[in-house]
Amino acid sequence: MSYLDVIVFCILISAKCCSQDVVFPSWFKFGAASAAYQIEGGWNASDKGESMWDKLLHTQPRVAADGANGDVACDSYHLWRRDIEMCVELGLELYRFSISWPRLLPSGFPNHISEDGKNYYNNLINGLLEKGIEPVVTLYHFDLPQSLQDLGGWANPLIADWFADYARVVFTLYGDRVKTWLTLNEPFGICDVGYNLQQAPYLNDTEVGRYLCNKNTMLAHAKAWRLYQEEFKPRYHGKVSLSTLFIWYEPLTPDDKEVTELTIEHWEGRYAHPIFSKEGGWPPRIQQFLDNAAKKEGYHRPRLPTFTAEEIELVRGTYDFYGLNHYTTRKVRKAKFGEEIESWPFYGSKELGIVLENDRSWPLGSVDWFAMYPEGLWKQLHWLKDTYGVQEILITENGYVNVDDDLNDWKRMKYIRDNLEQIQYAIEDGINVTGYIHWTLMDNFEWLAGYKVNFGLYAVNFTDPERKRTPRESARYYSKVTRGRSYDYLHVGLYE
Ligand code: NOJ
Repeated sequence: MSYLDVIVFCILISAKCCSQDVVFPSWFKFGAASAAYQIEGGWNASDKGESMWDKLLHTQPRVAADGANGDVACDSYHLWRRDIEMCVELGLELYRFSISWPRLLPSGFPNHISEDGKNYYNNLINGLLEKGIEPVVTLYHFDLPQSLQDLGGWANPLIADWFADYARVVFTLYGDRVKTWLTLNEPFGICDVGYNLQQAPYLNDTEVGRYLCNKNTMLAHAKAWRLYQEEFKPRYHGKVSLSTLFIWYEPLTPDDKEVTELTIEHWEGRYAHPIFSKEGGWPPRIQQFLDNAAKKEGYHRPRLPTFTAEEIELVRGTYDFYGLNHYTTRKVRKAKFGEEIESWPFYGSKELGIVLENDRSWPLGSVDWFAMYPEGLWKQLHWLKDTYGVQEILITENGYVNVDDDLNDWKRMKYIRDNLEQIQYAIEDGINVTGYIHWTLMDNFEWLAGYKVNFGLYAVNFTDPERKRTPRESARYYSKVTRGRSYDYLHVGLYE
């Protein structure tokens, strides 16, 4: 901690010590999240199939920082008991994790179900339930079986049925015990990031592939949701949705209002409007915008493939709640004539002719894309309620990225506190936010950033063969929050 950090922290503590405790309603649940490829390791344990991340990082080892990969990661394939223990230490009510499709179905298809894969998740689910922790299970968190990637992956329309077949296996195996499901994690990440050389399958196809993928993820989600409704819901009474990445955008000047709305439609609308809007289908303005662009570029068909009327109906309304991944906020402005536009990390900027900026009053986190503006979360929750009329929102991810390993991660604590405060305000405004799942339980493989950055409540020693996990101050803070059901514990932790 620098001298300045200490001063800021002391001010923060005194402010918080004097504030009154705000208690979350009893139905509000606290959790933490992880994802299979980021933590499990055991990449070729037993009969597990190869995932597209295995393939990418084994064949192009320089793609991720420091040549890292998830071959061992946090070794949760062996250390899952310790993971459960950490959930207990944190006082969690929810633990969100994902199932590795190729671990369960080595060929990608349900012709063979791996016994070891099946048992691994059975043990994890049973272990959590024994401790009174509810599993929240993601079916797909970026790790497609390579066998399916070889067949075109998310660009092949048949994937919607392949995904539904996989979903049926998972619901059949675990549906009696798992009551909250997320079909896909961040389809934006799957398509916009994966087809822009920032994630597996590491393709450079932002014009066509990313939009085929966009449509197919919507259909895949919808098929899995409908299948649960018809075959499993009557017996198991669970809820199904997906996790949608949402960065909140605000216009830099009143002049930028329209382009900001378009930006929200481009980023979030393409993955939310087909499912959550009353009318379904693509957000009309962005569809028009992309159709015009495609014509100008000489394409004979829309690059964002049109939905048939039947498909619109298939996808529309396929949710039981809104699963929200929220991290940060950006200001949007129109690019000046001839201005160079960065396409990373805010994909789509070039297409829209926009520049994304940080407001000077928003403190930056440890990386330059991470502005801390918790009010953005509150605004976004309102926007979701106003735009789609959603009746329930579960925060499926929210977390703070750090570049050092410091165990005194007070900025993360402040980030959690401030975001919870905004959630509390939203609840007071009548928005039904039913839970907060922190990203992430422990440091893990952060995709192309490898192990260079961390989001964990627990630090993991990746040079230790035992992958020892150590609680950070944020873990102590969060365990006070979950037990006291209030965020006003910032004075606790550092001095305990
Ligand atoms: C979104 C993704 O779901 C997760 O896999 C990733 O690690 C976090 N955000 C942080 O970037």
